[in-house]
Amino acid sequence: MDMLTRIQQALNKELTLAHRPSAPPRLLAAMRHAVFPGGARIRPQLCLAVARACGEDAPALTDAAAVAIELLHCASLVHDDMPCFDDADTRRGKPTVHKVFGEPLALLAGDALIILAYETLARTGVQHPQRLAALLMTLCEGTGAPDGIVAGQAWECESRVDLGQYQRAKTGALFVASTCAGAQAAGADPSGWRGLGECLGEAYQVADDIRDVMLQADQLGKPAGQDAHHHRPSAAADLGLLGAMAYFRRLMQAAIDSVPECPARSAMRHLVLQESERLIPQSACDRVEREHQAAHLARPSVVTCIAGPA
Ligand code: IPE
Ligand code: IPE
Ligand code: MG
Ligand code: MG
Repeated sequence: MDMLTRIQQALNKELTLAHRPSAPPRLLAAMRHAVFPGGARIRPQLCLAVARACGEDAPALTDAAAVAIELLHCASLVHDDMPCFDDADTRRGKPTVHKVFGEPLALLAGDALIILAYETLARTGVQHPQRLAALLMTLCEGTGAPDGIVAGQAWECESRVDLGQYQRAKTGALFVASTCAGAQAAGADPSGWRGLGECLGEAYQVADDIRDVMLQADQLGKPAGQDAHHHRPSAAADLGLLGAMAYFRRLMQAAIDSVPECPARSAMRHLVLQESERLIPQSACDRVEREHQAAHLARPSVVTCIAGPA
């Protein structure tokens, strides 16, 4: 079975288990709206790929870790879109949860998805208590304070923000959790896989900043131009489009170089390259480079400007 089908099935199973007759139907509908049909599912794919590279021996635990990570990600998007954060009307090409169900249910659906993530892991992890403890710590580090998603979002409430620290917390931390959890679910040491999560996570947010400037809402499936609109720290604003693209490429190369020696190394490198091309195609980099050079050449030289007509 391919990784995406495996992830969709595992997510569907968990959401179906949560559908108990005693639960408020609109809350359940809001949770499902947040999770399906889904986006790229890159974090759970990463978790599965690392688990396989580490000789996966407990597939149900890998599934639980991958599902927990995607549920935490979906919850973070529901909250991120709410009026008190980015006030976004669309996500993944459809109206956001608060637009369809209202703010109280969006807040609660996000909360319920976070709790379901930990419940999913706890239910399966009882078979592997030592792995479970390590996995829980990994997920807490990826999502909480001081360095996880919560901290990343909280940096938006500070007057002075370091771009790298902000991006590593709001996005990078859950990528680190994804690679480390993949190793831990397979009973392996996660330390060799941290670098991949760190580089890929930062690259992913740099790409998101570039795409926010370069693409339209219908291509993104969410509003465009949001970083400038909300005065958010952004790699595109800090480094310029060309600089941000070069930084993205460097981070992707570092991600590839960081993959530890293992039989699955070339499959892993392929996954990273494929993501790199999906996020920021090489053709887009070349076009921006050409436009930059053309603009540079077209600019009148100082001598021409001050010389005036003969
Ligand atoms: C969007 O994440 C938010 C960021 C952290 C950049 P994704 O781009 O992974 O969103 P989906 O899950 O594919 O929709
Ligand atoms: C979102 O960052 C990161 C989260 C933790 C949810 P952004 O606000 O830049 O992501 P998008 O552009 O809304 O997907
Ligand atoms: Mg945001
Ligand atoms: Mg946002």
